[in-house]
Amino acid sequence: MSNYSIKNLEEYFNVYRESIEKPEVFWGKIAEEHFTWRKRWNSVLSGDFESANVKWFDGAKLNITENCIDRHLADRGNKTAILFEPNDPNEKTQYITYTNLSKRVNKFANVLKAQGIKKGDRICIYLPMIPELAISVLACARIGAIHSVVFAGFSSTALSTRINDSNCKLVITSDGSYRGEKTIDLKVIVDEALNNCSCTTSVLVAKRINADIKMKAGRDHWLQPLLDEASDICEPEIMDAEDPLFILYTSGSTGMPKGMVHTTAGYMVYTAYTFKNIFQYREDDIYWCTADIGWITGHSYIVYGPLANGATTVMFEGIPSHPDHGRFWDIIEKNKVTQFYTAPTAIRALAKESLSFVQNRDLSSLKVLGSVGEPINEEAWNWYNNNVGNKKSPIVDTWWQTETGGIMISPIPYVTPTIPTFATLPLPGIQPALMDTNQTELIENQVEGALCIKQPWPSIARTIWGNHKRYKKTYFSAFKNMYFTGDGARRDAVGYYRLTGRVDDVIIVSGHNLGTAPIEDAINEHPAVAESAIVGFPNEIKGNALYGYITLKDKGERRYQEKLRKEINQIITENIGPMAKLAKIQFTNGLPKTRSGKIMRRILRKIASNETSNLGDITTLLNPEIVAEIIQSRL
Ligand code: WTA
Repeated sequence: MSNYSIKNLEEYFNVYRESIEKPEVFWGKIAEEHFTWRKRWNSVLSGDFESANVKWFDGAKLNITENCIDRHLADRGNKTAILFEPNDPNEKTQYITYTNLSKRVNKFANVLKAQGIKKGDRICIYLPMIPELAISVLACARIGAIHSVVFAGFSSTALSTRINDSNCKLVITSDGSYRGEKTIDLKVIVDEALNNCSCTTSVLVAKRINADIKMKAGRDHWLQPLLDEASDICEPEIMDAEDPLFILYTSGSTGMPKGMVHTTAGYMVYTAYTFKNIFQYREDDIYWCTADIGWITGHSYIVYGPLANGATTVMFEGIPSHPDHGRFWDIIEKNKVTQFYTAPTAIRALAKESLSFVQNRDLSSLKVLGSVGEPINEEAWNWYNNNVGNKKSPIVDTWWQTETGGIMISPIPYVTPTIPTFATLPLPGIQPALMDTNQTELIENQVEGALCIKQPWPSIARTIWGNHKRYKKTYFSAFKNMYFTGDGARRDAVGYYRLTGRVDDVIIVSGHNLGTAPIEDAINEHPAVAESAIVGFPNEIKGNALYGYITLKDKGERRYQEKLRKEINQIITENIGPMAKLAKIQFTNGLPKTRSGKIMRRILRKIASNETSNLGDITTLLNPEIVAEIIQSRL
């Protein structure tokens, strides 16, 4: 038998050792004992980082929805698979059982087929956190269509870029969404996006807010009548282990987002195994991850990981501040949530509110608390531990990425002793390395360096859609035969890892990864702008906020600076989304540059963070005089 569920520290070390020494034996056993296959694999692992051609369970055949749904029907048919909490607390909670989920996924899959969708076709999903979102994801997987979920906070321009990049034939959306007191007209955004997408021939529209929307004849269809007509039986498409399951876009350090491609078998095995261990999931638990399915956390730990384990997974449509700042705690109390997984930015925002919101609720059902998306600061960790977990529930600070598919470094609750702000130890199968700038691995403890991973794991993204060259260059060229994460980390005296933040041009704002390049590209579209540079600076709630240095073509235009600031943020909202708006905009006479013309962001970062006492050597700059000038007019 494999060690599917780790129970103590000694066992962890044994399992870890085996997983590193004999990865194929380790993952082969887990795959064999805990999943349903239509055909066994020829090899557990093949390929390597050097050639960027890693494959897991090659030759095997399966369908992930058989593993997430069908195989639970006999024993767990009446168990709740998805527990849906609407935005409005007065609207009824929905309990979607495994049997019901099976029928709804099959119906949806048949609707997709009737629209001419076939295995390998790409489908864009632009939906709020309503059951149709999880169901449409699973329906795509049922018929082998590749889903590309785009977070419904992205603008129409960002949406059309993503639809075009992977040539999506069909878009699934809704008439709108609820967000606290507000509604958002999603269909209008889709219509705008599709003006620029010739690849999309049909749009399925779920009804949510009863908005009066335009339907384009021949292209747009209301979803419900089609579902009503469809059969609730749909045989799963039998997929190869390495067939793409989905594309999910993430920001990079150049303008185009990267469409990370995840494949079927390795992703399934790894997300299911990590879900089980990191949340110590037991049969009657009620698990809640507050992420949006538009991000990787939602894919892996709301949909696939939990459902592969036959779990009950909560989906929440709303926001933590509506109708008041006790909403999260209400949902936990009402549903007796046992595992709660959220982001540091949400914890920091709620920690600022009156303690009575959390103290007035019975949170005694909680057993495990999770954190994801950015480093969690000590204050937020302590607040979470003291007030939400009542010092009884271990906090799992889970480090991972869209590219890694699943959690990589994290405590296992009740197994790994936790320390605030430390993601602690690598999970089985994960071999981290810290590298210095000379490409040398730092093998001792108490060191800090660039975080790499030495050995392939099952859920690593296999490519960037349509651009394997960029995939190779981004992840496998910085360090020989290693996957480079883009993060920095420190290893302490006992071997625990603490993440220190991005070492590239990606800035994490409220848990959203934002590349500086696409924001700068957007700003530079403004006719008055000559040049711009974006950096992050610390923000109490968001982790980081964005600071923009902007040089105008005509200095005289600065007399309109308030108007310009508004226009620039408007362009950013239109091109990317409101989460990328700049908190501060400083107009400059120039930007500090190296002699080869590269903007010295390191200096700009320090100025924005008001750390100007130690700027390092600036004499080698092309224009050192500009630095004092920028410091002087810092905002
Ligand atoms: C950051 C989210 C510190 C990190 C799952 C990573 C973290 C990026 C943590 C990926 C954590 C995520 N501690 N930093 N526990 N979790 N990050 O692709 O910089 O949205 O590279 O995936 O978030 O963000 P992504």
